[in-house]
Amino acid sequence: MEEPQLIELPIFADPRGNLSFAEQNNHIPFEIQRTYWIYDVPGGESRGGHAFKETNEFIIAISGCFDVTVDDGKNKQTFRLDRSYYGLFIPRGFWRTMDNFSTNSLALEFADTKYDRNDYVMEYEDYLKMKSNGEI
Ligand code: TYD
Repeated sequence: MEEPQLIELPIFADPRGNLSFAEQNNHIPFEIQRTYWIYDVPGGESRGGHAFKETNEFIIAISGCFDVTVDDGKNKQTFRLDRSYYGLFIPRGFWRTMDNFSTNSLALEFADTKYDRNDYVMEYEDYLKMKSNGEI
């Protein structure tokens, strides 16, 4: 199973303002089928408590910062995303949650599937069962 990892994106530092970018099948290690973004998160809220059966994801804190915790049912790892030139790759099959959003934070997410509710595992108990059965 692939592991979640932080990927440093190119930076073109410039007195006029910096520029970074990400290419599919390169910095983003899959073909992008979908992008969505999370914004206007009220203080103290948490999002994304679920796992995907098939979807690989890549998350960038375009603005502000937040934490992404990934969990394989045994070990948890928290990544603080606070620079717009880092992306977090989360392979399919991890339980992940997002919290500690700063004011005006903007989470940009890329996925390699179209939206499909059936790809979600919504309950942590179900996730643990699926992990122990090798279903995810
Ligand atoms: P969801 O992924 O459940 O957000 P979170 O896990 O952070 O609470 O998405 C919330 C709603 O947005 C969901 O009910 C359906 C809709 N949605 C789409 O229609 N397309 C998408 O690509 C995503 C991510 C969500």
